[in-house]
Amino acid sequence: MLSARDHYPASSHQHDISYLIHAYFSSTICNMIYSDCHLHSTFSTDGSSDMEDEILHAIDLHLETICFTEHNDYGAYKEKLFVVDAAAYHDKYLSMRDKYAGRIEILFGIEAGFQPTDHIYEYFDSYLKEWPFDFIIASSHVVDNKDPYYPVFFEDYPDDDAAYRAYFNEEYQNVLRYDDYDTYGHLDYILRYGKTKDEGFSYDRFADILDPLLSELVSRGKCIEINSAGLRRGLKYPNPHIDIVKRYRELGGLPPTIGSDAHEIHDMARDFDIIEGMLKEAGFSSYSLFRGRRRHEIPLA
Ligand SMILES: [Fe+2]
Repeated sequence: MLSARDHYPASSHQHDISYLIHAYFSSTICNMIYSDCHLHSTFSTDGSSDMEDEILHAIDLHLETICFTEHNDYGAYKEKLFVVDAAAYHDKYLSMRDKYAGRIEILFGIEAGFQPTDHIYEYFDSYLKEWPFDFIIASSHVVDNKDPYYPVFFEDYPDDDAAYRAYFNEEYQNVLRYDDYDTYGHLDYILRYGKTKDEGFSYDRFADILDPLLSELVSRGKCIEINSAGLRRGLKYPNPHIDIVKRYRELGGLPPTIGSDAHEIHDMARDFDIIEGMLKEAGFSSYSLFRGRRRHEIPLA
């Protein structure tokens, strides 16, 4: 079943909210983030822009570093949907990296869709060693192997809170049981798809599951990602909510990684000024970027 999860149109009301948040964070800062480390091209099932077009657009945007992170959601969808052809992806990556050397740094990453299931961990154990990834994003896109993009998903739960809790619990199981990744992507992704989105969200309501999840990430030296796609899906903040970012910082979390989660050129590096404001409000003065699986800290100013 093809999920169009990343082509969900925002309503005009959602744009209004995004505009207000943008105005709030943009009043005192200018964008100092020159890296976008969550990008999809047509190598992803739901990507719509060619890799080279994205590179040329990144150069136009004066980005210094980009990292492609095509989808591999092995085991979540039928056949090869959302499982990148890694050989073709790597070949194209190498040719583009060499063609544009000296103009922009291009990194080779993957967005790995994890589920708390032994055979999926075993698959990724070998897959993630097989390819020379610079950067691995762990992501949860399904719960109990069902995709929250589809409204019917929420019929299995009495309310959005119960669905959100099930989602956070699967992330916690992944963090406890699997270790081969660098950052956990869009930690509250499911808020994009609930009827109430983030209207009723408060950290305290989910602290019993979010505190162990964040503590485990911190103790294992994993980053979280700040992902601006949440704003394009009708949330008031990028993913995750700023109160999650603040608590992660309080617990001793490393500077987050940053990504637009763009699937087409116009979303690249989008709303990074808002992300910069969030980072500073949460107490961070830098963000993280991975090359060859090694973390580098990039100061914000
Ligand atoms: Fe994702």
